[in-house]
Amino acid sequence: MTDVLAAFEAAKGFMPPDEGLALYAAAQEAAAALGLPLLEVGTYCGRSTLLLAEAAASAGTVAVTVDHHRGSEEQQPGWEYHDASLVDPATGRLDTLPEFRRTLYAAGLEEHVIAVVGRSPQVARLWRQPLGLVFIDGGHTDEHASADYEGWAPLVAEGGLLVIHDVFPDPADGGQAPYRIHQRALASGVFTEVSAVRSLRVLRRGPGGFTA
Ligand SMILES: C[S@@+](CC[C@H](N)C(=O)[O-])C[C@H]1O[C@@H](n2cnc3c(N)ncnc32)[C@H](O)[C@@H]1O
Repeated sequence: MTDVLAAFEAAKGFMPPDEGLALYAAAQEAAAALGLPLLEVGTYCGRSTLLLAEAAASAGTVAVTVDHHRGSEEQQPGWEYHDASLVDPATGRLDTLPEFRRTLYAAGLEEHVIAVVGRSPQVARLWRQPLGLVFIDGGHTDEHASADYEGWAPLVAEGGLLVIHDVFPDPADGGQAPYRIHQRALASGVFTEVSAVRSLRVLRRGPGGFTA
């Protein structure tokens, strides 16, 4: 675990260590309890993927991480979170896949991760396997956050966890799309909140079916 935390802190990404520890605790709990895959929407350079991979490995399951690797709106040139070192000189487009692969390789966790390069709603439409944990940290517009919630939340197994990043009840702290899907999950009557560390919210799925 110490090695993974060091790799997490060294990796490019946006998640602070206290939220990372909360994500890791949730992933460990879900993986140990259900033995089902843990799925992340929003790989970026693999910072949070490392935590899911370590938890999955310790329970004999895998982490699946989905990203088109072209970056979210706020990561494009001229925006607040743009990193020019991640632009592919051959295409002029952002490409976080090579850095993600380096992150995973350096941490020795490649064999515990299935990386899916694609758009989250398209991948969700093909996915049938129940999941022990779904971590939503993809696009932060209403369009993207809603599609991630609608595509993936129904696939969380009973007793499994839905984790949402960047939940800001106060608009002064950040964009509202993740908060709105957090509110939808609670209003579904199927998810109850089990922990909150800053903007990272962990919800557990109870019994009963639902359509997001
Ligand atoms: C905030 S970053 C993820 C950060 C990462 N979880 C971490 O902790 O370092 C959001 C990522 O979501 C990806 N993304 C945005 N919309 C997406 C979509 N519709 N399908 C797949 N990936 C998407 C972007 O390419 C970006 O890499």
